Amino acid sequence: MTEQMYRTHHCNELRKTDIGREVKLAGWVAVRRDHGGVIFIDLRDREGLTQVVFRPEENAEVAKQSHSLRTEDVIQVCGKVAPRLPGTENPKLATGDIEVLPQSLTILNRAENLPFQLDAELSNEDLELTYRYFDLRRPRLSRNLQTRHRVTQATRQFLDSQGFIEIETPILSKSTPEGARDFLVPSRLLPTKFYALPQAPQQYKQLLMVAGMEKYFQVAKAFRDEDMRADRQPEFTQIDIEASFVTPNDIYAVTEGMLAAIFKAARGIEIPTPFPQLTYREAIDTFGSDKPDRRFDMKLVDLEDVFRDSQFKVFQSALVEGGVVKAINAKNFAGITIGQVDELTAIAKTFGAKGLAFIKVENGEWKSPIVKFFSEAEKESLRTKLQIEEGDCIFFAAGKWEIACEVLGRIRLRIAEIQGLTSANRQSGSDSGSDLDFLWVTDFPLMQWSAEENKWNAVHHPFTRPKAEDLELLEQKKFGEMRADAYDVVLNGVEIGGGSMRIHEPDLQAKMFEALGVSAEDQQAKFGHLLRAFRLGAPPHGGIALGLDRLVMLICDEESIRDVMAFPKNNRGQELMTQSPAEVDPKQLRELGITLAKQKL
Ligand code: AMO
Ligand code: AMP
Repeated sequence: MTEQMYRTHHCNELRKTDIGREVKLAGWVAVRRDHGGVIFIDLRDREGLTQVVFRPEENAEVAKQSHSLRTEDVIQVCGKVAPRLPGTENPKLATGDIEVLPQSLTILNRAENLPFQLDAELSNEDLELTYRYFDLRRPRLSRNLQTRHRVTQATRQFLDSQGFIEIETPILSKSTPEGARDFLVPSRLLPTKFYALPQAPQQYKQLLMVAGMEKYFQVAKAFRDEDMRADRQPEFTQIDIEASFVTPNDIYAVTEGMLAAIFKAARGIEIPTPFPQLTYREAIDTFGSDKPDRRFDMKLVDLEDVFRDSQFKVFQSALVEGGVVKAINAKNFAGITIGQVDELTAIAKTFGAKGLAFIKVENGEWKSPIVKFFSEAEKESLRTKLQIEEGDCIFFAAGKWEIACEVLGRIRLRIAEIQGLTSANRQSGSDSGSDLDFLWVTDFPLMQWSAEENKWNAVHHPFTRPKAEDLELLEQKKFGEMRADAYDVVLNGVEIGGGSMRIHEPDLQAKMFEALGVSAEDQQAKFGHLLRAFRLGAPPHGGIALGLDRLVMLICDEESIRDVMAFPKNNRGQELMTQSPAEVDPKQLRELGITLAKQKL
């Protein structure tokens, strides 16, 4: 052993076969226990834990020194690997058969006044984010970052093997409309002008296709000023891909191959490819969501033929008005409480329903205020269509297709949550990947009417290609009926990626902008570079971007993308550790020519 070495092994390395060896370990005191003068330490480093035992009979001086150790002190020990006493082995720990008996102890640094205990459950997120460097010592978070690393490495390796090259695109750039607000950066050299941080490298990657790069990828930062949720951050990472001379099937194949490589690297499992596909229409119709969670059934059933001539006016009139009547059957849910009924009704109302009719099947009886309106034939037909049995609870939605489907889709998810149908059915030690449900959702609508803005908006982004069959609808200005050559990849009910074939013809792109209400002048000002590029031999092209954070979140079985990001922001968009955003020096503002309007606090 050389004197200068801090350590000979990491803390997850020593086994029975090392017994008798002289070793050096360095790390943090994770746990310290005093058993009648014998000090037991769990020494922790990035890789794991090793038990270190200070026995007075082994080395009285070092044992005495160990009494001063506290949790999270950084230490180095030199000593001998010994077997644990029979019966005290820890089978849950890789190093659980051995312990280290130190001949020397060096305290490399002390940890004072811990802000919170690392072995306690999460409690105060703001405090944890303030001391994020401390929080990241939790083995769970540390493991997540290591998994994330394996995911990006596998991504790079796979895409490289397929001929994709990684190209960086600017962060100080110009606004790309991806549907969120931009973060702006003022320019000092060009006062009154602003850069926008990219919401995605969308235009640059298309321009790289015009540049003849053919197959591009980037592990790219994207910035969107939008309201935060568990799976949204203002700054996140995309695996961004674009290729020339491709069809959607090419993009599906490369994405599936990449995800297979990622799951192999990060979880050691083979995922079945190709993924099943549903059109947007089918996804909404059957699951009430464009990112269906199909790990449980509870499909939406259409009841038009049952209620077309019904005496129950709520349903019958919905159909007469061109709407739908649909239902879901929640198995073993007849015991629903009044509180749950209220909660589900409130959800239904939030998404536009007037009410949420339901039937509980208890003791062979259909309990519901609406059953009295149903004829025997209607009941019989419901029984077969919904396969109604004892213990079931049926929920109905009547109204416009979009609204009725979305309402039942939300109710379906909430019931699944209440019944624990979505909790990971992954058994420790036997990771078969059977808890993973991948699928493609295709043929999204191209545009969507915004009543608020009184205009058509792109559902994906304005560069997305209409389906060839629907091009004539553009001439006829039937924008709402047009479908896009756009697709999302969904895992367990989470949209992990989205992309499309792009428009590469300048005239079609100009028509698309026009449909979206972008004036000829604005087209030149905002997108002139793109329209010009398309006149210089733009190849047909398309691509996709995957949300790396969301993907890693699902791989790690986490509920929030914050748990797989090193330094995330809280739900007010603050990074509490460094306290950003922050006020700046008035001198900096003067240089930028910016005066702040007086703000009310
Ligand atoms: P899109 O806007 O669908 O497509 O984004 C791609 C994927 O990025 C993830 N994502 C997010 N993750 C965390 N926080 C956010 N705020 C956030 N917003 C999006 C999602 C999403 O599927 N340029 C297009 C792609 C293309 O057309 O090639 C784009 O950005 O998982
Ligand atoms: P009403 O006739 O308004 O009292 O409604 C009778 C039952 O139908 C109540 O349980 C309502 O919650 C429910 N209901 C009303 N409108 C709808 C709708 N559009 N879809 C599903 N259920 C509804």
